[in-house]
Amino acid sequence: MRNNVVAGNWKMNKNLSEAVALISDIKNGINNLEVKTEAIICPPFVVLETAATLLKESNVKLGAQNMHFEESGAFTGEVSASMLKSVGCEYVILGHSERRAIFNETNDVINKKNKQALKSDLKPIFCVGETLEERENGTMKSVLEVQITEGLANITEDELSKIIVAYEPVWAIGTGKTATPDQAQEVHYFIRSLIANLYTQNAAEKLIIQYGGSVKPNNAAELISQPDIDGALVGGACLQADSFLEIIKAGG
Ligand code: 13P
Repeated sequence: MRNNVVAGNWKMNKNLSEAVALISDIKNGINNLEVKTEAIICPPFVVLETAATLLKESNVKLGAQNMHFEESGAFTGEVSASMLKSVGCEYVILGHSERRAIFNETNDVINKKNKQALKSDLKPIFCVGETLEERENGTMKSVLEVQITEGLANITEDELSKIIVAYEPVWAIGTGKTATPDQAQEVHYFIRSLIANLYTQNAAEKLIIQYGGSVKPNNAAELISQPDIDGALVGGACLQADSFLEIIKAGG
């Protein structure tokens, strides 16, 4: 009943001409793939408008990597949800572990961002994940529970249906260390059960939960074929069209 969704988080990579080349390659390559998997690219802000133009008449969707939680105003250097919407974004990555760790984003800030995105008709790709220390000291599940409960505070079941959750164990991001399919499946099942408790069984069954953290063409199929894994949020491997397309193909 759930469709797989593969999103590419470009992070702070690619200037305008490099981005145009990569998007063109992805767009051309995806036409040859007969897949049901939905593909999303999330390039840097400055490339979004061009990306939206290039992706017209393609089924690749567009997302941003961050936004501010206020509607507008004196927030020098920030970008709002409605601005993202106005240049053609459908999605926005929120709560990425790099935003949490490097830019001190708290669960409360991420909750405000989730709410503002929904208000502006943008779909959040809401990221959660534990550090290696939290996994090893046995607090992983409680950390995830707090991230999810606080990140989704005051969000209705109807709004939840527009959110994708991305489980990205911090220790697997950019390290080449992937969670094994069993490890990832266990956490995805845990997250889905938590959503069933917070909302309903129906909401939990409909929720798309992506896995992220060193997803590559050689491990994507096995991860995505797990019952509670509905696609991937890809970093490094989305920066080349070939490897990104291979991962989309692995989604079926
Ligand atoms: P890598 O695929 O490079 O590990 O990055 C994952 C990630 O952070 C996607 O948001």
